[in-house]
Amino acid sequence: MCGIVGYVGRRQAAPILLEGLSKLEYRGYDSAGICVNGDTPLQICKEKGRLRELVARTDNGAAVPGTVGIGHTRWATHGVPSDVNSHPILSDGGKIAVVHNGIIENEAKLRQILIGHGIHFQSQTDTEVVANLIAWYYDQCGDFLTAVRQTVGQITGSYALGILCRDYPDTMIAVKKDSPLIFGYGNGENFIASDVTAILKETRTVSYLDDGEMVMFRADSAAFFSPEGTPVEKKRETITWELAAAERGGYDHFMLKEIFEQPKALRDTIFPRIRDGQVVLDGVELTPEYLKSLRKIYLVACGSAYYVSMLAKYTIEKHCRIPSEAMMASEFRYCEPVLDGRDLVIIISQSGETADTLAALREAKRLGARTLAIVNVVGSAIAKAADSVIYTWAGPEIAVATTKAFSTQLAVVYLLTLHMGKALGTISDAEYASWISGLETLPDAVSGMLTDVHLQQIREFAARYSDRRDAFFIGRNLDSAICQEGSLKLKEVAYLHSEAYPAGELKHGPISLIEDGTMVVSVASGRKLFEKTLANIREVKARGADVLCVTLEDFAEEVAQQADGVITVPEVFPALQPSLTLIPLQLLSYYMACSRGCDVDKPRNLAKSVTVE
Ligand code: AGP
Repeated sequence: MCGIVGYVGRRQAAPILLEGLSKLEYRGYDSAGICVNGDTPLQICKEKGRLRELVARTDNGAAVPGTVGIGHTRWATHGVPSDVNSHPILSDGGKIAVVHNGIIENEAKLRQILIGHGIHFQSQTDTEVVANLIAWYYDQCGDFLTAVRQTVGQITGSYALGILCRDYPDTMIAVKKDSPLIFGYGNGENFIASDVTAILKETRTVSYLDDGEMVMFRADSAAFFSPEGTPVEKKRETITWELAAAERGGYDHFMLKEIFEQPKALRDTIFPRIRDGQVVLDGVELTPEYLKSLRKIYLVACGSAYYVSMLAKYTIEKHCRIPSEAMMASEFRYCEPVLDGRDLVIIISQSGETADTLAALREAKRLGARTLAIVNVVGSAIAKAADSVIYTWAGPEIAVATTKAFSTQLAVVYLLTLHMGKALGTISDAEYASWISGLETLPDAVSGMLTDVHLQQIREFAARYSDRRDAFFIGRNLDSAICQEGSLKLKEVAYLHSEAYPAGELKHGPISLIEDGTMVVSVASGRKLFEKTLANIREVKARGADVLCVTLEDFAEEVAQQADGVITVPEVFPALQPSLTLIPLQLLSYYMACSRGCDVDKPRNLAKSVTVE
């Protein structure tokens, strides 16, 4: 969602801000803008549409002088995407400029109070309330920091704010609550950003602001304050990954690059956690006594991460014999779950920022459950809030549609299941050894799915079906959960109406929608349930569907007699099979999106991190 970048230094700010914003485009946005405090105070350039238009209008920033500035990419919440609603937002009278990520929940009330003070509003944004409130307090007290503090004391909701004041031409203030914000240290210059990718070209030394923390900084100094206003020392962290990891590097799209990065991401996530044939989860204490005392495991997440939760439910319940339930975070928060210290809540999130997932985590903690987060972004809000965290080492994921993060989340689920099953004695030594060798060879097996031959085959299917209006995905058990992910991918990037059903459920309603030419993707990789899924394939074929089936090599011949197309995957240890059936579905969506001319990496209306409810 919205992205923030800020710079205070000696170089021209605008080109640095625009470069930073280009790295935040992946978060999803509909307008962009910058504000620079220079000889012309608080000079604003902003507009609806793509960043490239702003870049062209300002001659890549060269036309905007000044060495202190804030920049923003906006994903509309309050008010339509428009020039006037774009950030930065100026206060009435133009003394204060603000960029904001999040939602001010009491904006309507504050707006009325400010209107009562004679203040005029230009935009429909909640952010304008913040700018005007700071300006109003500033007029009373004459001190920038005090005015921001007083404002923060009045606003509720979520925010990361970058703030400039016309009377403080060398200074910026930033503050955050429930939206991410990092501070970057340069040499005679300092930065803020929503995430490290925006400033990685400039600095690798950062501090993660905690909720309620504020920083007031100039080119050579930075003072951090706790929510109570007392000075705090921030720990400096060094970013170790390379900028190339967040660049396209010769691929047409980030999504394709990230599909290809899966073998490496799996190696990075799995290998350091297998030592001498044993799973080692550093920093995660799950003793046999604790696991035996568990009443239930909830797996809570949104979107694709929720489908990982579904896979985890099947896997953990089967192999650890602990009752487990997957829940969407947006529902979990409000369903009054029966939770206490006897329950473990596993939270899954790539970004570690998703608002509903973070709120679900807080609700679980409030009710006394223990929480364990599976997160990709180091230092993110979810990683910090959970009792313990297992990182997926997928590296930065830029495409809105998740691929490598999904794969690595699944890998962590396998590791966790093995670890718990061994501790509980529900996984035998022989089975444990087979899992371990399956995990060790999984990255190569995924590599084997990314050969030219496979790619060409899937590209042909995608071209053949690219004109379809509807798609259905069917499978059973683990295959059914993978179908959910395949279907979401197709919706997201190829804008194709698509639904996924457990194959056995089809006859209970959705089969009425199957007609001549309906596209059905079936996944049939489970040996136990293969015959049953095949029967479901026959049923949809009989009603005119065009069926594409992802299955094991052993079943290919039999499936070919029914389906219009067959994609085979090598057979691996059964619990790990979803990691392979996933790959053709990712590629199918990708190539369908390309055939249909869709904006693969930035699908319409979607944001990479969903930081609002
Ligand atoms: C997946 O392709 C989507 N972009 C989306 O469903 C995503 O998985 C969901 O929003 C959760 O995000 P998170 O993992 O960052 O919490």
